[in-house]
Amino acid sequence: MESPDKNIVITLDGPAASGKSTTARLVAGKLGWLYLDTGAMYRAMAVKVLRRGISLDDTESIGRMAATTQIRLRQSQTGMHVFVDGVDVTDQIRTPEVDRAVGPVCEVPAVRDAMVRLQREIAREGHLVTDGRDMGTVVFPEAELKFYVTASIKNRADRRFQDMKKQGLGVSLEAVQADIEERDARDSQRDHSPLRKAEDAIELDTSGMTVDEQVGLVLRHIDRLIRAEQAK
Ligand code: DC
Repeated sequence: MESPDKNIVITLDGPAASGKSTTARLVAGKLGWLYLDTGAMYRAMAVKVLRRGISLDDTESIGRMAATTQIRLRQSQTGMHVFVDGVDVTDQIRTPEVDRAVGPVCEVPAVRDAMVRLQREIAREGHLVTDGRDMGTVVFPEAELKFYVTASIKNRADRRFQDMKKQGLGVSLEAVQADIEERDARDSQRDHSPLRKAEDAIELDTSGMTVDEQVGLVLRHIDRLIRAEQAK
């Protein structure tokens, strides 16, 4: 597939553990495009809030901190790495503690403003595949192709549980499911940039699908888009 001249943006939004990050990362890898995991950016910010001992209710301090915090993402041989003020925090962003803190942190308007600015800057660097909650609705409403990725709660809880088990984290499946349900409610009910399907997004239910099938489906849509762009 030959990439078109103008920068293309593909967004994958959806609830926690729906498979959107894995799909987005692999699609970007196949195409040689940039991959932007925006959940990792909000998680990195939450790591700094926890390290500083800032209370999750203290939105003013969190907002002030965000204005002077530098978040960077770098792709390496071992995967995507996220840095806060130059320090690699990749290994710390997927703990249960960060899972709980990221909800309140990502709702602070100054945090979202800083992250959205950075996300749009990154999109100027090349073709982009990005995943999050508001990428197709708020950050890139003009994206060429949008997906809304869902999966049953059982599927999502099981996926996140397996990930955590691999990391050696001792959690129960029930606790993981309860946590995901709580985050779903929080992500979709918040005032600022809530999780919702963009009107022009393609719905992708990954419940019964393998990762290869998800990647293949997204790639077929992108192939069609590129052919249409080239025919213009
Ligand atoms: O996709 P994830 O589970 O890594 O996301 C972590 C949190 O960040 C999630 O609770 C919602 C928030 N988030 C967001 O508000 N907007 C985004 N674009 C991406 C993530």
